[in-house]
Amino acid sequence: MSIDRLHMDLGDRGYDILIGSGLLDQAGALMAPVMRGKRAFVVTDDLVGPLYLERLLRALGQAGIEADRTEVIHGEHSKDFAHLEALLDSMLEARCERSTMVVALGGGVVGDLTGFAAAILQRGVDFVQIPTTLLAQVDSSVGGKTGINTRRGKNLVGAFHQPRLVLADIAVLDTLPRRQLLAGYAEVVKYGCIDDADFFDWLEENGHKVIEGDVAARRYAVAISCRAKARIVAADEREGGIRALLNLGHTFGHALEAETGFGDELLHGEAVGLGMVMALRLSARLGLAPAAAAERLEHHMLAVGLSARLSAQRHWDVERLMHHMAGDKKVADGKVTFVLVRGIGQAFLTRDVPEDAVRGMLRDFIGA
Ligand code: GLY
Repeated sequence: MSIDRLHMDLGDRGYDILIGSGLLDQAGALMAPVMRGKRAFVVTDDLVGPLYLERLLRALGQAGIEADRTEVIHGEHSKDFAHLEALLDSMLEARCERSTMVVALGGGVVGDLTGFAAAILQRGVDFVQIPTTLLAQVDSSVGGKTGINTRRGKNLVGAFHQPRLVLADIAVLDTLPRRQLLAGYAEVVKYGCIDDADFFDWLEENGHKVIEGDVAARRYAVAISCRAKARIVAADEREGGIRALLNLGHTFGHALEAETGFGDELLHGEAVGLGMVMALRLSARLGLAPAAAAERLEHHMLAVGLSARLSAQRHWDVERLMHHMAGDKKVADGKVTFVLVRGIGQAFLTRDVPEDAVRGMLRDFIGA
């Protein structure tokens, strides 16, 4: 079975992103070359653990790697100080050392929490990401952002800590609930919108195959997404500039998530999808992009089964959404940095957006 091998080019902190079907069963052999010792500490959650932990431990054992493990409760609530402390404590209790490889087996929550624990345990230990959701495979496991939420907001405490390896096993997506898969797919579409119009064309043709489980289509979509992310992160690891393009749809999406309580009502990927529609509509309203770009995006989202409209079950308020946007961590000197487009595949950053235009777009979008 072949493996796509991409490289995150960050000098001595660089690493490979491996994409293929069935990688979990080869994890030990694939991890061994980047390990300093023969011990690992695996973190997973109560949904992923029962499905994949034993297989991972067997694969590690086959390579002579001894592994301790712990499980956190799935969901965003585990990404807080209390769970971080408990996780660090179990790592110390298991006598994790500098040479122990920490392994995150799960979605974005497990990856972010485990990565942050690895960043601060003994001032930094190595870790491997084994993302099990589409969203984590194409976004959160790649690029070294780790962290937790505080009561003042999401991801406000964390560290840039690059993994030593990312193993994206396409086969594990087979057990992912369809809603989670679709939410992750919105982040795939994001790469087409940012700077790859050809990929957007390809998704229009093949997106349904990615959703329905076609292995080759999934693999291609994950590889193209990771390649785009690796290129952008390698150029701007700490988000001084172009890495912020990866936030396309996130400023508006964050406001929607804040309004809905960062829970099951609206998943992060779903919010990003809606946020991208809003960003493209705002671009059109400002005369920067043709209205057809937003229409094309909406059409594609609907075609694969993603919602392109706000839920009619809730009362949405323009001023409350404006307020959430102002509280986003992407605000600098009191101004929101927007990611807008000149068309599909032509995203750019700007802080020069009149509030009235944002309000007008929100009013239209709420009313749509
Ligand atoms: N998820 C956006 C980034 O990694 O920069």
